[in-house]
Amino acid sequence: MALTIRPRRDEDLPALAAALVRVHAQDGYPVEGVADPEGWLRHDRELQSWTAVEDGLPIGQAALTRATSDDDAARVWLDHIGGDVNRLAIPVRLFVHPDHRGTGAGRLLMEAAFEFARTRGLAIAFDVMLKDQAAIRLYGRLGAQQIANLTHHYGDGLTEPATVFVMHQ
Ligand SMILES: CC(C)(COP(=O)(O)OP(=O)(O)OC[C@H]1O[C@@H](n2cnc3c(N)ncnc32)[C@H](O)[C@@H]1OP(=O)(O)O)[C@@H](O)C(=O)NCCC(=O)NCCS
Repeated sequence: MALTIRPRRDEDLPALAAALVRVHAQDGYPVEGVADPEGWLRHDRELQSWTAVEDGLPIGQAALTRATSDDDAARVWLDHIGGDVNRLAIPVRLFVHPDHRGTGAGRLLMEAAFEFARTRGLAIAFDVMLKDQAAIRLYGRLGAQQIANLTHHYGDGLTEPATVFVMHQ
């Protein structure tokens, strides 16, 4: 099967939204739920997003965002590494359709985000919920380093244990 990674296009959004609904049903990702899947895919601080396409079908995506000091990953990065938060990028919204996993799409999506940041001299930090073990294994294989755990707060007083990785490039 032909697997490619390319910048996300608006016409990918319906297929990605449908994939995200499946991901949420199976993996509970994102913890915030999928009431508005297309809205969730469009991050308002996006630097670039990518779609994984298998045989013409969008099967997964990742986005790279500009950090602010309010982001969980940025707060931990500021505490443990330090630097100019304006030079920090955060990969977010990574998922692959459950029927299309295990062929390297997740790895290629993250590598696209890392490469984009590297060529612009941006540091990288990102958070992941501890329950998302496939993602944690993937980040370890990619050479990312876990720097600290935190509690992610969301919704109406809900919490989820999470951890923060950095990628030295
Ligand atoms: C995390 C996630 C994106 C990984 O997607 P993926 O496309 O399956 O990722 P990869 O194919 O690169 O790697 C996954 C597995 O396939 C294996 N694999 C990768 N390429 C392979 C290949 N060519 N042949 C055989 N196996 C392969 C990897 O070794 C890995 O195995 P492991 O999970 O047992 O460690 C996916 O599991 C997902 O969407 N999870 C739910 C959402 C989520 O947690 N997102 C992260 C939020 S921070």
